[in-house]
Amino acid sequence: MIDLHSHILPNMDDGASSWEVSLKMCQQAAEDGIQIIVATPHTLNGVYDHPREVILEKVKILNQKLKERGISLPVLPGSEVHLSADILERLKKQEIMTLNEGKYILLEFPFTQVPPQTEEIIFRIQIMGITPVLSHVERNLEFQRKPDSLANLIQKGALAQLTAASLSGAFGTKIRSFSQHLLSNGLIYCIATDAHSDLESKRNPVLSKAVAEASRIIGPKAVFDLVQTNPQKIIEG
Ligand SMILES: [Fe+2]
Repeated sequence: MIDLHSHILPNMDDGASSWEVSLKMCQQAAEDGIQIIVATPHTLNGVYDHPREVILEKVKILNQKLKERGISLPVLPGSEVHLSADILERLKKQEIMTLNEGKYILLEFPFTQVPPQTEEIIFRIQIMGITPVLSHVERNLEFQRKPDSLANLIQKGALAQLTAASLSGAFGTKIRSFSQHLLSNGLIYCIATDAHSDLESKRNPVLSKAVAEASRIIGPKAVFDLVQTNPQKIIEG
């Protein structure tokens, strides 16, 4: 399995709070059967702003530490970019980290709404040859109220990521049933952990439970695409 969305780099955002936590998260991910993980620290959300070089350097150090500990889990660079006015300019200047520096960007909306300029920004990102992957779509209040607005963005070429813990009900029954609805209707392109911490925390680096849940809804073959085939296409650009 490939996990496209994690806050596994230490002291970058509200994710791993130290190298020790970061390494424990990697260990847990590897034990769960995750073979590759993409580090996607928050950026441009008004609190965090991480240039590419900083992310690359931290990913390099984490990979070195994993090698020293004998943990087999390649970590790739990425970021979770908040939808903001200057995203296009920053992308042009190549200041923003895409997923594995390729042709896909993990894009985050505010939880309460889909900003009015979303469609235009997505279109402009696509013109640059980059495909937006919308993070944790099931947790967005506007998509919950108007699923058609998500279907519209997908029809226009955006891809949707579902968070593993949403399927187990960690964010409540409403988000769980909306996640099931999105899966059943073929609107989800990939499932990722959005891991922020380790062990039994709500968002830990575990995909296998969500795979079991999703398999009951759409079958194991379709779920394989969501955690392996599609994430692989994304990291290969
Ligand atoms: Fe995230």
